[in-house]
Amino acid sequence: MKPIPSKKLSQLPPYLFVRLHQLRLQAEGSGLSIIDLGQGSPDLPSPDHVVKALQEAVGQNWTHRYPQTQGLPELRRAIAAWYRRRFDVTLDADRQVLPLVGSKEGLAHLFMALLEPGQSVLVPNPCYPVHYNGVILAGGRPVLMPLLEENEFKPDLRKIPAAAARQAKVMLLNYPNNPTGAVLEDNSLLEEALAFSRKYGCLIAYDNAYSELVFDGYQAPSILQVPGAMEHAVEFHSLSKSYSMAGWRIGFVVGNAEAISQLAKFKGFLDYGIPNFIQQAGINALSGPQDTIAAACRTYRSRRDALVEALSKIGWTIAPPRAAMYLWGRLPERARSLGSLAFAERLILEHGVVIAPGVGFGPHGEGFMRFSLVAPEEKLREAARRIGRFLESLPERSPSRRKPAKVG
Ligand SMILES: Cc1ncc(COP(=O)(O)O)c(C=O)c1O
Repeated sequence: MKPIPSKKLSQLPPYLFVRLHQLRLQAEGSGLSIIDLGQGSPDLPSPDHVVKALQEAVGQNWTHRYPQTQGLPELRRAIAAWYRRRFDVTLDADRQVLPLVGSKEGLAHLFMALLEPGQSVLVPNPCYPVHYNGVILAGGRPVLMPLLEENEFKPDLRKIPAAAARQAKVMLLNYPNNPTGAVLEDNSLLEEALAFSRKYGCLIAYDNAYSELVFDGYQAPSILQVPGAMEHAVEFHSLSKSYSMAGWRIGFVVGNAEAISQLAKFKGFLDYGIPNFIQQAGINALSGPQDTIAAACRTYRSRRDALVEALSKIGWTIAPPRAAMYLWGRLPERARSLGSLAFAERLILEHGVVIAPGVGFGPHGEGFMRFSLVAPEEKLREAARRIGRFLESLPERSPSRRKPAKVG
């Protein structure tokens, strides 16, 4: 028996990082040593005190029971207290805070909770895949807002046609941005988005997963710092990157109480929330010493500088980002006609280096590659050397472009 997948599922190619992992296994199988800079999965250890808190919590019988979807009240209070310390924004821990099984889960479920079939969502492109795929899986229609290099990877909201604006139920924004590394220098885009929301009535979903991974004195804002935002916006956060806890699956959403209550109701039918012992550890991460965040930022910044320098030595110039954990660079001239997917595939299979093809983040990502800074500096330098050898092996003018298969 071969069940027929839904039209929604059939529309989507396999998830980008699943596909990259398969190629990695194939390269490993052929005996190559692998340097994996594909997925943004932090290689730094989770903080010691958080690991200890988990060990202690898991020894207590009550943590073995079903958790509640809305999370432990202590976790919601820890989130609200962290938010006040970090952004000087006061949240009602019972109505404006919802813990999530990672922010990816919350983003996907928000679309499912809010969208009628065919309703549209304004989605930046390129984007973190769930911003787009989550809309498709919810039966909605993503309307792309191109993030162009000449516009510093910011959407131009004035270019959204009035009809599309009126139909949009949600607008998604994400800064510090994955994959481009772009940041907001001031609140003007946030203010414009909130004015747009007031005019057209769409909810602003602001993905702030990288708010803590910042360099060179940059400070990431929260949309909830903008006056009136609580009426129009929700903001997603993750412990995955700030505390190197990607595998623990814990994040949260804060902001508009109505949207949060609808998401909590929806999740109530599907999941039981985060395991209690993970919640206990999360409380510890948010309330305990925060020095591991600064240490992680220092590590990512030196890796960023090491990789930017190593790539420039092979003739690939990439501007250093001021936040997140990625380099986003246009393919060098010599590789351009290959396209990002074929470049990624050949680089993995011939040289054992995994980097993500820009097209995996959507059509406006084509022509770019994303490097995750998730390996020590010497590995990053080695990756750059291998990429240099790969580039040299390409003809001066590459043969005609292979049509890239869609990957995500
Ligand atoms: C922009 C963005 N949002 C959300 C997530 C998901 O994070 P989480 O681990 O909290 O699900 C990621 C993960 O890479 C991301 O890049």
